[in-house]
Amino acid sequence: MNILLLNGPNLNMLGQREPDKYGTQTLQDIVDDLQAQAASSNVTLTHFQSNAEFELIDRVHAAMGTVDAIIINPAAFTHTSVALRDALLSVNIPFIEVHLSNVHAREPFRHHSYFSDVAAGVIVGLGAMGYSLALTAAINLPKSHK
Ligand code: DQA
Repeated sequence: MNILLLNGPNLNMLGQREPDKYGTQTLQDIVDDLQAQAASSNVTLTHFQSNAEFELIDRVHAAMGTVDAIIINPAAFTHTSVALRDALLSVNIPFIEVHLSNVHAREPFRHHSYFSDVAAGVIVGLGAMGYSLALTAAINLPKSHK
């Protein structure tokens, strides 16, 4: 099974960036933990982070036919990107949306997501644990959709 993990803009700054909201772990720490979890489940996990919308879109397109599920934290693109939403819909790969912070407890502009209504599931507000829960869910998605 192949799972693609995508992280959007500014998530490369995790650890330094507003740690009260996003925690003290770096993105590398989070990815290392997820790689260990994936390996113990015999799953191949590929990670890609970008600050550029088109790079995330291109990576989604490249996943077509090779990736079974996508875990994505679109970061600020959550609230702005019809294009990334359309990319995910165009490849027909189930995806799980993750946010470290509880976006619903924050500014009103963070309450709307262009992804949630078409996601297989959404995990918000649980910090880095949200990625781990998303990986468990992604591995089990084929079963839960039978
Ligand atoms: C975020 C929440 C977004 O509103 C914000 O723009 C981010 C991170 C989160 O993980 O909590 O960059 O996606």
